[in-house]
Amino acid sequence: MNTTITATAKYIPEKILSNFDLEKIVDTTDDWIKSRTGITKRHIVQESEATSDMCANIAKKLLESSGKTPEEIDIIIIATSTPDHFVVSTAAIVQDKIGAINAWGYDLTAACTGFIFALETGARLIESGKYKNAIIIGADTMSSIIDYKDRNTCVIFGDGGGGVLIEQTDDDYGIVDSILKTDGSGNQFLTVPAGGSRKPASETTVKQRLHYVYQDGKTVFKYAVNRMSEVSKEIIEKNKLSSHDIKLFIPHQANQRIIDATARKCGLDLDQVFVNIDKYGNTTAGTIPIAIDEANKMNLLKSGELLLLAAFGGGFTWGSMLIRWNKML
Ligand code: COA
Repeated sequence: MNTTITATAKYIPEKILSNFDLEKIVDTTDDWIKSRTGITKRHIVQESEATSDMCANIAKKLLESSGKTPEEIDIIIIATSTPDHFVVSTAAIVQDKIGAINAWGYDLTAACTGFIFALETGARLIESGKYKNAIIIGADTMSSIIDYKDRNTCVIFGDGGGGVLIEQTDDDYGIVDSILKTDGSGNQFLTVPAGGSRKPASETTVKQRLHYVYQDGKTVFKYAVNRMSEVSKEIIEKNKLSSHDIKLFIPHQANQRIIDATARKCGLDLDQVFVNIDKYGNTTAGTIPIAIDEANKMNLLKSGELLLLAAFGGGFTWGSMLIRWNKML
């Protein structure tokens, strides 16, 4: 028995924050951002919107396009680093919002690799035979943890998310293989320093702006290229394939230069690589499922063709996943 994707969806907030908008807030230029990252704009939630609102919208779209009822959903896993609350899980809020009265669920934190970790976990639960339908979402409200006075981070990140419905199948389609990694010794290079149990929120932590994302961009860049290309090459070789067998490569959308260097190291041509970073920036756990939905809606994959995913994020966490696509109705 395999696990396969039977519906895809995304949610992008309406409000746009362009490079020109950022020029008015921090010392940056549209030229610098475009040439160093490939990003021209990102989307930002309204004040009243939180991660669970994006996820509930995605989950409802998955139900609509698959024809499933909320009662048929067994599991909801939300990959996010920006939950609505520490207590309760975003998955619980989404379960209630969509009326999935028979579902249980939880949040999973693995930064930008979160969606692949969640998809792996959901797939193994489905393959146990105990559960039939799972909703797997990656979404982040990065604007809630970004310092719009810090030009090192605010130009990169945006809000948004996407998701998939997964089910059992007896066919050859679905998740073929995955290679997932964590190296926590990299934790200091990309983190939110305060607000957790290590440094609870206080007047001092707020004054010191420690509730925002801190990153050592150069170190993260280097690791992202090396680790994503390593696991992508490894999964291709492990499955006795060559880079030419991959129809579409969806890498985490962190920086156009990271994407280009990773693809080059893997021997992939530009027309095999899906890129949408120019429109959304880095939406953390959202980038891969948003790209999967767009690739699906653009009919970039036919039944039986191979999709390769690769992600890298805070932790450090990283991984690759190979999927044999099945065309959705
Ligand atoms: N606008 C204008 N100038 C900027 C700038 C900005 N937004 N950010 C940095 N600069 C300046 C720097 O101060 C530096 O100036 P200097 O040479 O006078 O000191 C110069 O541009 C180069 O800075 P540098 O940090 O070397 O730029 P970079 O090419 O490494 O790009 C990142 C910075 C953050 C875009 C890049 O390192 C990156 O993408 N890292 C990975 C981030 C990431 O993917 N995070 C999520 C991981 S999942």
